[in-house]
Amino acid sequence: MKVAVLGAAGGIGQPLSLLLKNQLPAGSELALYDVAPFTPGVAVDLSHIPTNVNVEGFTGEENLQKVLTGASVVVIPAGVARKPGMDRSDLFNFNANIVKGLAEKIAEYCPEACVAIITNPVNTMVPLAAEVFRKAGCYNPKKLFGVTMLDTLRAETFWGDVTGYARGDIRIPVIGGHSGTTILPIFSQTVGYDAVSAEDIEKLTVRVQNAGTEVVNAKAGAGSATLSMAAAAARFALSLVRAISGESGVVESAYVQGGSQYAPFFAQPVLLGVDGVKDFLPLGKFSEYEEKCLNDMLDTLKKDIQLGVDFVNK
Ligand code: NAI
Repeated sequence: MKVAVLGAAGGIGQPLSLLLKNQLPAGSELALYDVAPFTPGVAVDLSHIPTNVNVEGFTGEENLQKVLTGASVVVIPAGVARKPGMDRSDLFNFNANIVKGLAEKIAEYCPEACVAIITNPVNTMVPLAAEVFRKAGCYNPKKLFGVTMLDTLRAETFWGDVTGYARGDIRIPVIGGHSGTTILPIFSQTVGYDAVSAEDIEKLTVRVQNAGTEVVNAKAGAGSATLSMAAAAARFALSLVRAISGESGVVESAYVQGGSQYAPFFAQPVLLGVDGVKDFLPLGKFSEYEEKCLNDMLDTLKKDIQLGVDFVNK
């Protein structure tokens, strides 16, 4: 199977490519692309790791055809990251044209691929890409994903810190979107919930919502989450690869279209299969606090979605 990473020379792209080089099944092809001229060098570097994953790196738009043709999975971390004082919506003006341009090439060269978008603001970039694909006549909502996996990793990690449960045993659905209050961890469905006070649940929820800013501030101008994001994206991409290859029972959360009564695009647990989303899984029961957070976020989420749709149709 061929996996393409667009934005492969960046803070997320490089460690993500490293994880994929090490963890993709033997026989896979890894195609790296970035506007950074040293991208072929990233591939040469990775090619010295003795795994049976063939890696090639390209720069220059004229090479996108080579990168994308035959790809079954395309992961996109291309774009600008946050600096202190910015929120994810501030990135829209920088990143909208980047994602639009790359989506147009995907529509041209690998319209059947599963596409996973990391670029922020995810809430807007995914509807924007959907609109590009729709216009090109190749939109399949089951094959387009916003990567919200980092919110899940953060919720699981912070829950482990508070409850003492082994982090590997914790599964927490994080629903909604991927920015501020649109990020909603559903702790009430998690092991150990009854032992945690309502006040602590609220604090943890806010911490997950602001965890990206925690990293942005700690890096003090040098970017946002890259290593944890690479781990999250690798987990998602490898799950997709396993599902596309025929493994059954692969479940992950992602920001997708369809299956939600709350908004046209919504982060939720999905069952993955050979053609992308096989099934939208039930969201289950919410606590009163979660129900309120969910209702409060919907206006913001719907506006974020509309911005992406309008950008393509302006
Ligand atoms: P970075 O600036 O280190 O890397 C971005 C890379 O994209 C650079 O190498 C740049 O040359 C490349 N690029 C720019 N335009 C391109 C184009 N047209 N085609 C191909 N490559 C292009 O940024 P970083 O830290 O890797 O973050 C990337 C994106 O991921 C940002 O938008 C950031 O906000 C987002 N992000 C998303 C998260 C999520 O949970 N979904 C978490 C953390 C970051």
